Amino acid sequence: MLVLGFESSCDETGVALVERTPGDARPRLLSHALYSQVRMHEAYGGVVPELASRDHIRRALPLADEVMTQAGRTLADVDVVAFTRGPGLAGALLVGAGVACALGAALDRPVLGVHHLEGHLLSPFLSADPPEFPFVALLVSGGHTQLMRVDGVGRYELLGETIDDAAGEAFDKSAKLLGLGYPGGPALSRLAEQGDAAAFKLPRPLLHSGDLDFSFAGLKTAVLTQVKKLGDGLDARRADVAASTEAAIVDVLLAKSLAALKVTGLQRLVVAGGVGANRHLRMQLDEACARRGVRVHYPELALCTDNGAMIAMAAAMRLQAGVGTARRDYAFDVRPRWPLAELAADAA
Ligand code: KG4
Ligand code: ZN
Repeated sequence: MLVLGFESSCDETGVALVERTPGDARPRLLSHALYSQVRMHEAYGGVVPELASRDHIRRALPLADEVMTQAGRTLADVDVVAFTRGPGLAGALLVGAGVACALGAALDRPVLGVHHLEGHLLSPFLSADPPEFPFVALLVSGGHTQLMRVDGVGRYELLGETIDDAAGEAFDKSAKLLGLGYPGGPALSRLAEQGDAAAFKLPRPLLHSGDLDFSFAGLKTAVLTQVKKLGDGLDARRADVAASTEAAIVDVLLAKSLAALKVTGLQRLVVAGGVGANRHLRMQLDEACARRGVRVHYPELALCTDNGAMIAMAAAMRLQAGVGTARRDYAFDVRPRWPLAELAADAA
């Protein structure tokens, strides 16, 4: 069975083809293609939703052609068309959903709407070293910061989440204050390599709160205060501020992940979402988990940020596990706000 997947929730158009062969442990990625709109939005310092939608329209079908050619298949071979149903930007989601459902209708194939975060959660199954259920998942993206207990496909229990900004947002907003452009996470992380993480004492919000929730809004304010205090001296200390900011975010993510492992008694951690690409976070988690005999799994670096492969994979895994049904129902809707907990309920 061939699943063609479309991702268009934010500023990346991703399309991928995944194959599910009966008897195989898990579906296999045949090809994927991605177009990032980052350069277009850079000029505005953030994603402009209307421009994002218009660009997804331009990219979706050419990317679909590209993945079919790469895999040596044709659209007529596709059995199911999957798309990101939410959460994300409404207009951007509508483009992916519209294209996927129109293709489904034209090909007379069923369609399946996928939860974007489920895509991230299951993305490590695309790697050469996939995890086994159950595991704790640390989901860290531009829009979300959550710790989940994952017992199987569609069996997700929220352990804790951010009460304000997401970790990626904390990276991006701090980077903006340092004049590093958009999206600043990777740039801040690169600059941090040359800085001293102990140079500035920045807050680690909720570090000792005793629960598994996060809060990052205060950190951005602390960075702003520091930047103002440095004034003209900021230039010479930019790398130090970057390193101190990264250390504050990573410290909290690390401590809460370890606490989640302790509370659940699980021995496996999966890290997913854009911030999962952060080198410092990976190093700290690897070291702490190795000491505790905990296995850590990451998606391939290129599949940490948004992509179509995770959407096609999540759809194929849902179908394989029997917790999702593809339907010839092309009257689609999207869910710009869609708590993952509601999805788990759908599957029950
Ligand atoms: O998962 P993702 O591509 O999109 C969302 O669903 O939000 O995550 C994007 C986020 C951005 O905030 C970006 O700055 C952050 O991931 N990010 C990083 C790194 N690479 C991407 N943050 C820190 N270090 C990185 N290396
Ligand atoms: Zn994402």
